[in-house]
Amino acid sequence: MPSTETTERPFDIIVWGASGFTGRIVVDYMHREYGSGNLSWAVAGRNPAKLESVVGQRDIPVLTADSHDSDSLEKLVQQARVILTTVGPYARYGSELVAACAQHGTHYCDLTGESLWMREMITAHQQTAQDSGARIVHTCGFDSIPSDIGVYFLQKEMQARHGVPARHIKYRTKAFKGGFSGGTIDSMMAMMEAGQKDPTLLKQLANPYLLNDTLRGADGPDRFSPYFDEDFDAWVGPFMMAAINTRVVRRTNELLNSAYGEDFRYDEGSLTGSGAKGFLGATGIGVGSGLFAGLASLPLTRRGLQKVLPKPGEGPTPEQQENGFFEVELRAKHPLDESKNLIASVKGDRDPGYGSTAKMIAESALALAHDDLPVAGGFWTPASAMGDALLNRLPANAGVTFEIVE
Ligand SMILES: NC(=O)c1ccc[n+]([C@@H]2O[C@H](COP(=O)([O-])OP(=O)(O)OC[C@H]3O[C@@H](n4cnc5c(N)ncnc54)[C@H](OP(=O)(O)O)[C@@H]3O)[C@@H](O)[C@H]2O)c1
Repeated sequence: MPSTETTERPFDIIVWGASGFTGRIVVDYMHREYGSGNLSWAVAGRNPAKLESVVGQRDIPVLTADSHDSDSLEKLVQQARVILTTVGPYARYGSELVAACAQHGTHYCDLTGESLWMREMITAHQQTAQDSGARIVHTCGFDSIPSDIGVYFLQKEMQARHGVPARHIKYRTKAFKGGFSGGTIDSMMAMMEAGQKDPTLLKQLANPYLLNDTLRGADGPDRFSPYFDEDFDAWVGPFMMAAINTRVVRRTNELLNSAYGEDFRYDEGSLTGSGAKGFLGATGIGVGSGLFAGLASLPLTRRGLQKVLPKPGEGPTPEQQENGFFEVELRAKHPLDESKNLIASVKGDRDPGYGSTAKMIAESALALAHDDLPVAGGFWTPASAMGDALLNRLPANAGVTFEIVE
């Protein structure tokens, strides 16, 4: 049982990491949309002066703790019903926080894309979270909400219209505009560094069912080479978030008791158009991603990349966030009758990684704090814990829409 009844805690939500690049955007969004009167929330981090400068004249309480001081974290997590954390790389800074939330029945959401770390957390704390009632939900940003909620939406529509789940769903990015923060690059580099030190980790990363406990399905390894997709009449290159998103969607299927079917298949890629230009675009994405992974996995070239790419605390400007967007198309195949196939469009009105991500994680924290969710304590995915809640909240509040293309 949680050590403090969660309903008696002073705050609904604490934003942990509020001084970071993404944390600041989350704070601005929450203050703009929910103020400091309608919602009881606070910001927290390790540096009070930095946090005060984030809060400025706004009436938002400030709390301090440190990622590696378990006592300070245990006190922190008992102050709130939900911890929203943007402190990453999560494998470096996040493990004690997850342990504390699982222990004290505090709901939790984050932005990690570090699938090996997620696997480690699930294995270590699943039972504790079930016992305490803590709902722990990783990947509440661009990875993996458009994928996970997009598939949930499309499967719901397929069930409602045709009474069966789609057997295969393809997710393809059509267009997006945005950039990367130093924190995201640091997290990617940390994963590459870990893989270089222990090559068995790379094998685990390649497991399409890494996040599932028991359910295995029909999916094979991720595709990196370009291919022509008849369904979209276009060339497809790799999508850099696919290695996390696909694992999350497959875990959702397991957590929903195989609601998508035991032989459900799911893959992601980037559309680059038809003809020679499309082929060259798809090849370019593949070569570019391979080159980046190669450079990031060797210590010398990794240090070189770190010198030229954004540093922790840096990222796209407010104008770049405002002018950014994303558009994804998902196609669902009916198991027997292709005239019953469905297409969904998922769009975001800010850059995917920061402007839209900040809104997605804030709405996830609000759903964990206030909505009537169908799950008890444990490690959940966004769709398995908050599928319907986010399908209501994201279009209404966060500029992220899910629509069937008729
Ligand atoms: N999934 C997605 O779509 C998505 C999108 C955006 C970001 N992310 C992830 O979110 C994470 C954050 O990215 P970012 O660009 O916001 O990073 P950032 O600007 O470097 O911020 C990191 C935050 O962690 C805090 N921190 C570092 N060490 C700490 C410690 N020992 N105790 C307490 N706080 C500590 C920093 O505090 P100080 O300010 O005191 O240094 C800062 O608030 C990364 O892992 C990134 O990959 C994911």
